[in-house]
Amino acid sequence: MIFDIITIFPDYYKTPLKFGVIGKAIENKIVEVHIHNLRDYSNNKHRQIDDRPFGGGSGMVFMVEPIYNALKFIKKTDSKVILLSPTGKKFNQKMAKKLSMDKNLVFISPRYEGVDERVKEFVDMEISIGDYIITGGDAAVLVLIEAISRHIKGVVGKEESVINESFETELLDYPQYTQPRDFMGRKVPEVLLSGNHKLIDEWRKQKSIEITKNKRPDLIKGN
Ligand SMILES: C[S@@+](CC[C@H](N)C(=O)[O-])C[C@H]1O[C@@H](n2cnc3c(N)ncnc32)[C@H](O)[C@@H]1O
Repeated sequence: MIFDIITIFPDYYKTPLKFGVIGKAIENKIVEVHIHNLRDYSNNKHRQIDDRPFGGGSGMVFMVEPIYNALKFIKKTDSKVILLSPTGKKFNQKMAKKLSMDKNLVFISPRYEGVDERVKEFVDMEISIGDYIITGGDAAVLVLIEAISRHIKGVVGKEESVINESFETELLDYPQYTQPRDFMGRKVPEVLLSGNHKLIDEWRKQKSIEITKNKRPDLIKGN
C-alpha cells in the first residue's frame, strides 16, 4: 500500500510514523508513505496556497489550483483520492477494511476553514473521523493510516489479534487481564486461570455481549 499525503505541514508526520506496527510496516516496506508539501505546487512566487473566502467570513480557504497541480503530479491510474473533511462520510472499521484493499490512497489534508468547494470535483471520497472539529486534516490522516494499515497482511503480527478486535463483529472486545493475579484484592476472574479454553471462550463471548449491551447498544442489530 502506498499512502500519499498532501499537507502544508510535512514535518508533522516525521515522528509518529516511526513507532509501533506502522513504523515496522514502513521499515519492512509493506507500507510506503510519501509526504508532499502543498506549497511546492503553488504557481505563486510566495508559495501561497490559500486565500480569503469570497463572500466574506473569517479564516482562509485552501485554493483549488495548488491541490489540482499536486494531484496531477501524484495521482496514478489506481489511486483513490480522499479529502479529510468534517462533512465527509463518518469513518468506521468497515471502511478501513475496504480501503485496505486499495493499492494507493492519496490524502488531502486541509487546515484553516477547509478547501474551495471545487476541490471536491477532483476527489473520490470525503471522510470525517467523527462529529467534532479538529484544527487540520493531519491528525485525521494518521488515524486513517493506522486503522487501514492494520488490515494489510503482515502489518499486525498475529492476524488473529485483528480478527478478535472490537467492531470486527457487532460486539465490543471482552475484558483482558494480566499479572498480577491479585491487585490489592482485585482478583482476575477464576475462569481465565482455569486452562479450560471452552469455558474461557464462553465467558469472553458473554462479557462481550454484556459490555456491548451496556456501552454501545447501537452496535447490536435489531436495536
Ligand atoms: C478547522 S477545520 C475546518 C472546519 C470547517 N470550517 C467546518 O466547520 O466544517 C480544518 C480542517 O481540519 C480537518 N478536520 C476537522 N475536523 C475533522 C473531522 N472531524 N474529520 C476529518 N477532518 C477534519 C478538515 O480537513 C478541515 O478542512
